[in-house]
Amino acid sequence: MCGIVGYIGSRPARPFLVEGLTRLEYRGYDSAGVAVLGASGTTVVKQVGRVRQLEQTLPKRMAGKLGIGHTRWATHGPATAANAHPHQGAAGRIALVHNGIIDNAAGLRAQLTESGIALSSDTDTEVLAHLIERSAADTLEDAVLDALERVTGTYALAVIDTAHPDRIVVARSGSPLILGVGSGEMLIASDLAALVRHTNQVVHLDDGELATVTAGGFATFDRSRTATERQPVEIAVAAEDLEHSGYETYLLKELHEQPAAAELVMRGRLDERFATTRLDGLRMDPRELRSFTRVKILGCGSAYYIGQFGAQLIEDLARIPADAEPASEFRYRQPIIEPSTLYVVVSQSGETADTAFAVAEIRRKGGRVVGLVNVVGSTIARAVDGGIYLHAGPEISVASTKALTNMGVAFALLAVHLGRLHDLSFADGQRILAALHRLPGQIEQILGDDGAIAAIAARLAGARSALYIGRVRGFPVAREGAQKLKEISYIHAEAYQTSELKHGPLALIDPDLPTVAVIGDDALTDRNIAAAQQVLARGGPVYAITHPGVDLAHLPVETIVVPKSEPELDPLLMIIPTQLLAYHAAVALGRDVDKPRNLAKSVTVE
Ligand code: F6R
Repeated sequence: MCGIVGYIGSRPARPFLVEGLTRLEYRGYDSAGVAVLGASGTTVVKQVGRVRQLEQTLPKRMAGKLGIGHTRWATHGPATAANAHPHQGAAGRIALVHNGIIDNAAGLRAQLTESGIALSSDTDTEVLAHLIERSAADTLEDAVLDALERVTGTYALAVIDTAHPDRIVVARSGSPLILGVGSGEMLIASDLAALVRHTNQVVHLDDGELATVTAGGFATFDRSRTATERQPVEIAVAAEDLEHSGYETYLLKELHEQPAAAELVMRGRLDERFATTRLDGLRMDPRELRSFTRVKILGCGSAYYIGQFGAQLIEDLARIPADAEPASEFRYRQPIIEPSTLYVVVSQSGETADTAFAVAEIRRKGGRVVGLVNVVGSTIARAVDGGIYLHAGPEISVASTKALTNMGVAFALLAVHLGRLHDLSFADGQRILAALHRLPGQIEQILGDDGAIAAIAARLAGARSALYIGRVRGFPVAREGAQKLKEISYIHAEAYQTSELKHGPLALIDPDLPTVAVIGDDALTDRNIAAAQQVLARGGPVYAITHPGVDLAHLPVETIVVPKSEPELDPLLMIIPTQLLAYHAAVALGRDVDKPRNLAKSVTVE
């Protein structure tokens, strides 16, 4: 999704802007641009395509020490240079970059046109540049506030003004914006990735907050112009975490980081003495936690699928009714928010707009919501009542892998915690903790021995479509497997409950449609084998993700054998081969596995 960078200081702005935009490339974008304010005014350069292409078109002389930059993900109007940011006012005095969506842009565009302004783009953002430039206010801050009074929607905004060449004014509502504090310079970005090489002192702006940013520092204030006195905080992300050193792609690196990441999310949280988990971040005492009679899990995409795993786990271990639902649908169906329900939102980025809106809906109606979030200090992490940080480290590849696995582990920590407050026995608590201890090593084993997976992936790569089937605990595995395959290889894939095959999708089966079947060693093994036989009987190739104890030798089925965990946690290990299947298929097809087409890492608009 769109990215913002900004620089003001004693050095030329251009190198930081270009490097910062490159760091934000992973978020997905279709065009990019910069505006640099120098002695002769503001120079704006915009380009469709990669930041590299933008860099090639920048003028040799671009010496200003103040600038803003943007990577755009088209929402209003196609990806063209005219629609790329920065946008300028008619007089060229104001230039700004914007993430988010101005909902009432159509009406404002009509008003501006009526008053004689020739709009130069199709975007919602351009109206802001004109409104700020036309404001009668004396200061840039007041002009920005004037304009914001007239718009509805979401924004992270960075504005420069040739009449006030000593500052950048920024504003945030519903879209992240971070200030980086340097020595004699200040940086601005919508994502830490653009800042960590330059500073570890940052300020996360809150919704409704603005800031004046100068070379010497910053001053934050709210919409009534009252100072909010924000202080910088230190961030722990190291610059090396953002490289794919030693690996061809971020995706491959992140796949292989899973064992270490799983260790980190558990570190200090397993309490063997009481066969439970320590989750102080939930900020709820045992009595409060015990009072919840339902758990509702909300996330988008893969985070929703792992939420389905989490719901099953909570029902299994804590015996509390639990279900998962896409956060993107939640607020539009007028959900009933119950005080006795614990709401759990799941998000790697902590910036997914749909999930953030679900949090706002829950809180607006007085519900209690906790978050399983990876990015520390992100919008969702700060909006929830408490939570469990995932500690997966930066995830750059668009497809979520290590963060997703850590979401699953965090659900296990939560389920054991809730379980031990209810009826989960000491022995069962210990059983799950022991399985969690074994998990990183087992993930390592799967990653280290992916020959069979690569061979099957080569066959999937030749298919136009694939079916993923699993049931009960295996169904979230199938859903996530299908998601990963389509996401990074562009092969169409659908997930079905194995039990649903005969109610429709069996009609699709033929020799050209491979089926990836989750056949664990559990109470449903025989039924799952029977379903695989039905597929085979109709000529469909079957690839099974299975356990050592499952006998499939009598069937013409290629297998991926995954180490056994406890039944409740088996899905976490079975997901790993689905990631590898998608990865190898995508590589075989020559896809850009880190930046799949049409997708963004962090979906900050609805
Ligand atoms: C799939 C994927 C997406 C995200 C979804 C939610 O690999 O990455 O489906 O899971 O967009 O993103 P977060 O977790 O950042 O809220």
